[in-house]
Amino acid sequence: MDISMDVIPRPELFDFHGVCMTHYYTDNWEKVQNFQARPDDIVINSYPKAGNTWLSYIIDLLCHDQTSIPLYKRVPNLEIAIPSLGTEMADNLSTFPRLIRTHLPVQFLPKSFWEQNSRNANPDSVVSYFHFDHMTKIQPEPGDWSSYLQRFMEGKMAFGSWYDHVNGWWDKKQSYPKLHYMFYEDLIEDTGREIDKLCCFLGLSPSAEAKERITGSVQFDVMKKNNMVNLSTVPLMDFKKSSFIRKGKVGDWRNHFTVAQDEKFDADYKQKMKNSTLKFCTEV
Ligand code: A3P
Repeated sequence: MDISMDVIPRPELFDFHGVCMTHYYTDNWEKVQNFQARPDDIVINSYPKAGNTWLSYIIDLLCHDQTSIPLYKRVPNLEIAIPSLGTEMADNLSTFPRLIRTHLPVQFLPKSFWEQNSRNANPDSVVSYFHFDHMTKIQPEPGDWSSYLQRFMEGKMAFGSWYDHVNGWWDKKQSYPKLHYMFYEDLIEDTGREIDKLCCFLGLSPSAEAKERITGSVQFDVMKKNNMVNLSTVPLMDFKKSSFIRKGKVGDWRNHFTVAQDEKFDADYKQKMKNSTLKFCTEV
């Protein structure tokens, strides 16, 4: 990436086919929508900050087992419209299978993925978006916590409403069998068990030694120190503001909420999720 991210202005959010986006995720839209999937592609989708990097690294180790190139140079983020990243990187990948990350809501996933019957792995969700928006330069400034929380509830975040996003993928899973839905909380609770389930879904059978090594490599403290995955070499981030692999805890968001915010959020959550069979646990 030869672009100096220090000089670029923060982007604005705008309505894009009913979903809030920034131009960094839509400038390349035609190429994203016409992207040619391959039958063995593995798509890793989540709402932002749901553990996408963690899962990408797990699958990368399971499939390719190499750590000498930073993860962000091996696993493209499909919608990111920056030269040599996004679709361009995906088109030029020589690894097999290709791992492709995205935060797109289900209705925006390129059609060819469904036609090719590719696999999808979907982790969900703890929101650490607020901290992330302080450090990333390709999203709008987050502003103060209280107004940020309000905007989150209104879906005025890049990639839109968290509620629509998680329910959209959950609904798709009911009719599309090659989609494995994962929860961040489950990965925290028992990483080995979740890797076993993932291997079963992906048709992989690593040796016991390989599994033990991979489970060790993806522990929070180990990943936080690993410059190949902690994004410390990415110019899009300002590490003076926060870390990308920040805290890795379930329910950390509660530390930010006042009692009044908690009550309001809870009531709004129940209302928005009342017709959904999707259940998140909030404690591990
Ligand atoms: P926090 O900011 O709450 O710490 P994404 O990759 O989708 O942007 O998700 C980022 C979140 O996943 C961050 O949450 C980060 O710390 C957490 N994360 C990354 N690697 C992790 C790991 N090995 N164990 C636990 N959490 C991890």
